[in-house]
Parts: sequence; structure tokens; C-alpha cells
Amino acid sequence: MLFIEICVGSSCHLKGAPRIVELLKEKIEKEQLENDIILTGAFCSGRCNRVGVTITVGEDVYTGITPEMIGEFWEKTIVPALRKVKEEQACPNV
Ligand code: FES
Repeated sequence: MLFIEICVGSSCHLKGAPRIVELLKEKIEKEQLENDIILTGAFCSGRCNRVGVTITVGEDVYTGITPEMIGEFWEKTIVPALRKVKEEQACPNV
């Protein structure tokens, strides 16, 4: 299971967090990954001074994410993270 936490604090909210939540929900549904990814919200993680929204994927924190970047973020960050989680689950001793 991959946990994705989107900051929905007031600064990230203004920078597009609600739209990012919508886009990620659509991606998860389209790819039928409802049983593989848990999407949650979080309060401010103290990175408001950055451009864009703060998103935590697994244990890695990413800042500066905008709704326009979500397609690329999905392909370059979320898909590999999900693949890694699935590999670890399939072979937990690695
Ligand atoms: S509101 Fe998102 S990091 Fe502060």
C-alpha cells in the first residue's frame, strides 16, 4: 500500500491542493489503484514558503507541486514509488 499525503493547509489550499486531490483521485480510479494507494490530507507541514503544494509519497516529501505538474509527477514519482512498494510486498526480505 502506498500512502500519498497532500497538504491541505491554507497556503497549499490556495496553491491548488483541492485540484491536485481531484486529479489524483481521477488517476487512481482510472488506473483502478483504489486498493494500492491511500490518498489522505495533512495539515501544514511547514513548507509554505515554497511555490506549489507539499505532497508526501511514502516517506518522501515533495514541494512545489502544481496541478499542471500532476501528470509528470504521477509518472516520475508515484508510479515508481508504487512499483517499489509492490516489489517490497512481494519479496519482504529484500
Ligand atoms: S500549508 Fe502546505 S506546507 Fe504549509
